[in-house]
Amino acid sequence: MNIANKTVLITGANRGIGRALVEEALKRGAARVYAGTRGAWQHPDKRVTPLMLDVTDSSQIRRAAGDIGTLDLLINNAGIAIYDDLSKPQVIEQHFAVNLFGPLNVTQAFLPQLKRSKGAVVNNLSMVALAPVPVISAYSISKAAAFNMTQSLRALLAGQGVTVHGVVLGPIDTDMNRGFDIPKAAPEAAAQGIFDGLDKGQEEIFPDPASQSIAEGWRTGVAKALERQFSAFVPQAAAQAA
Ligand SMILES: NC(=O)c1ccc[n+]([C@@H]2O[C@H](COP(=O)([O-])OP(=O)(O)OC[C@H]3O[C@@H](n4cnc5c(N)ncnc54)[C@H](OP(=O)(O)O)[C@@H]3O)[C@@H](O)[C@H]2O)c1
Repeated sequence: MNIANKTVLITGANRGIGRALVEEALKRGAARVYAGTRGAWQHPDKRVTPLMLDVTDSSQIRRAAGDIGTLDLLINNAGIAIYDDLSKPQVIEQHFAVNLFGPLNVTQAFLPQLKRSKGAVVNNLSMVALAPVPVISAYSISKAAAFNMTQSLRALLAGQGVTVHGVVLGPIDTDMNRGFDIPKAAPEAAAQGIFDGLDKGQEEIFPDPASQSIAEGWRTGVAKALERQFSAFVPQAAAQAA
């Protein structure tokens, strides 16, 4: 999908990668950008419509889906990451609420619009979905679950014209990983990589140098082969693949 003249909703749009995605969508000629935020927020470009959207709040999700008539692209970007050692169930639940059920519930709410437009869903995942960083273990589990969810949604929605893409992000220089002293890519570069991957129709998008180093291994690996094999159980996906 090319974003020019399209309508996009980005969650967690006020800072970090979400903010960079807003700017990149505008640069690439998006017709309208719905910017989901938890607090009041303004953007000088008239094409940006701020939207109160806490992805854990079902009434806000319902209201947003009721207010937006047309949508070509949903980017599930909002996320949290808290240091933990798996000793507190509530920390795990918190991660699941935002990083798994958030994107799932927002996607389900906007499916009517996305089916009408034959649109796309982009889920911002992480390299930690493939192997955990144990000091952020709850985060890692939630991203692994969100990756798996992305694969199921891809197969389940294939027959309805909606494509589902997972972004396997490496370390990006935002508030989220301030504490990690490692090389990080700029959020602006990551945003470009995400839209470039979407342009190319990539199922998994590897938008930064760290993630690009594993892209080939993922695409030719056993997990991707199994995803294709298992998706054949969905009749529509099988029909499309035939
Ligand atoms: N930075 C990295 O190295 C990295 C690596 C891999 C994946 N990612 C993923 O990329 C995405 C963006 O991360 P980031 O680095 O830009 O993080 P960030 O700078 O911490 O920004 C997180 C964004 O998510 C929003 N958010 C948090 N909880 C929310 C909720 N319940 N409802 C709606 N919005 C919520 C925040 O809003 P508030 O301002 O209101 O808190 C903020 O806009 C996340 O999904 C993250 O897991 C990031």
